[in-house]
Amino acid sequence: MIRVSVHPTAEEACAAAASEVIKGLRTKPELVLGLATGGTMRAFHAALARLHRSEGVSFARAMIFNLDDHVGVPADHPQSFRRFMRETLFDLVDVDPERCFMPDGMANNLEAAAAAYDRQISAAGGIDLQILGIGRNAHIAYNEPGSTHESRTQVVALAPQTIKLAARAFAPAAPPRRGLTMGIGTILEARRIILIASGTDKKQAVARALAAPPRTSCPASALQRHRDVLFCLDSAAAFGVDRRTTGGPTASV
Ligand code: PGA
Repeated sequence: MIRVSVHPTAEEACAAAASEVIKGLRTKPELVLGLATGGTMRAFHAALARLHRSEGVSFARAMIFNLDDHVGVPADHPQSFRRFMRETLFDLVDVDPERCFMPDGMANNLEAAAAAYDRQISAAGGIDLQILGIGRNAHIAYNEPGSTHESRTQVVALAPQTIKLAARAFAPAAPPRRGLTMGIGTILEARRIILIASGTDKKQAVARALAAPPRTSCPASALQRHRDVLFCLDSAAAFGVDRRTTGGPTASV
């Protein structure tokens, strides 16, 4: 079941999601937390770091599994996801770097690295709380339209729209064309999922994700199969959500 909470601004949607993570850490300091990258996550990570300081809640015993990596982008590249996580979150909170994981898009054998990542998640006892963004084409992590909803961590070809969006950040170099990503099936195994979306350019993807039935053309619609999903939206991203179905600012779909 997907519950939807709508907030006036992106900052408030991110703060609501961050406070769920802090609650999770308070209940279980060794929380296994799935995190994401992307523009939306900047405000979310800032909110997490703020709450970490103001509430005095520690990440030291938590384990962190990131959703995905670009293939062929080294860790020290300005656009690398490892660097993004360091700069937007890990340097601002007390995570133990030994307990932070990301699929290795620089591995010589990407298929082996993908299988190893699924095994690492299982060995950690599975993900307690997974944070997701959503692409304009409704991708979750780098599972593009057409991905099966049962997929495991895998190497994927990025959609033309995804490559185009990344091109500006990577210019003048060519943007990556492949990703190494947790599969949709892997994501659905998380015990709880919170998807954060803000801005008008996400409203269509959000509305499609909520429209039954789940379809492989809309990766985020797979979340309808999960029993505990919360969408934290700002009002712009929630614009296409059918309020007759959701019935108010916090409602179930
Ligand atoms: P964005 O990316 O936050 O940069 O829009 C989200 C995503 O593609 O999952």
